[in-house]
Amino acid sequence: MLKIGVMASGRGSNFQSIIDSIKSGYLKATIELLITDNPDAYAIQRAKDNSIEFLVMKPSDFSSKDAYYSRVAEEFKKRSVELVVLAGFMRVVKKPLIEAYPMRIMNIHPALLPSFPGLHGQKQALDYGVKISGCTVHFVDEGVDTGPIIIQAAVPVYHDDTEDSLSERILRQEHRIFPYAIKLFSEGRLKVEGRRVIIDAPRSELDLIINPPIGN
Ligand code: GAR
Repeated sequence: MLKIGVMASGRGSNFQSIIDSIKSGYLKATIELLITDNPDAYAIQRAKDNSIEFLVMKPSDFSSKDAYYSRVAEEFKKRSVELVVLAGFMRVVKKPLIEAYPMRIMNIHPALLPSFPGLHGQKQALDYGVKISGCTVHFVDEGVDTGPIIIQAAVPVYHDDTEDSLSERILRQEHRIFPYAIKLFSEGRLKVEGRRVIIDAPRSELDLIINPPIGN
């Protein structure tokens, strides 16, 4: 069974979707530890509700960002975590963690990368006027949302969308593709070749994930 470590900064609905996917048997994995940088994160409540160990670790309590991420890596290694999942973790992860987990850290981003990286991907898409946006799961490298893309899902952008309505439409897809990406990883169905991630799955399965029927 795949041992997962999660980092989250806020609400934690993606964290919840992973918990639920494990509970339903869709994902054969265990969550060994949640690390949050925010003592007020609702993700903490979700950890408590599901008897998941958590640590509140703030970068400001460490002498440097490197010291922070070394410690994060240490805590995950201590618990034999094999895959680190960034579920709404609002910081750029630094070298010590990336080197401890090369191509073993996944992030979810609320836009179709490489468009609209960084913060507020949904608002950036609205402001730009694109007609399709979506979400991306990618492996984490040292850039900001630049690592190899694992899977994406598309959603329409309507002229009367607000940041909230678009975020909600995208979020629903986030909750599908993140567990799917983790499942692929846990089953050894992902192979990274340079920037490209090769997925061992039939096209019919991928089509449904990438271009889902949208109900609103
Ligand atoms: C999600 O929309 C996620 O894609 C985004 O933050 C939200 C967290 O929601 N992440 C980023 O913007 C990372 N740069 P959640 O806490 O309910 O999972």
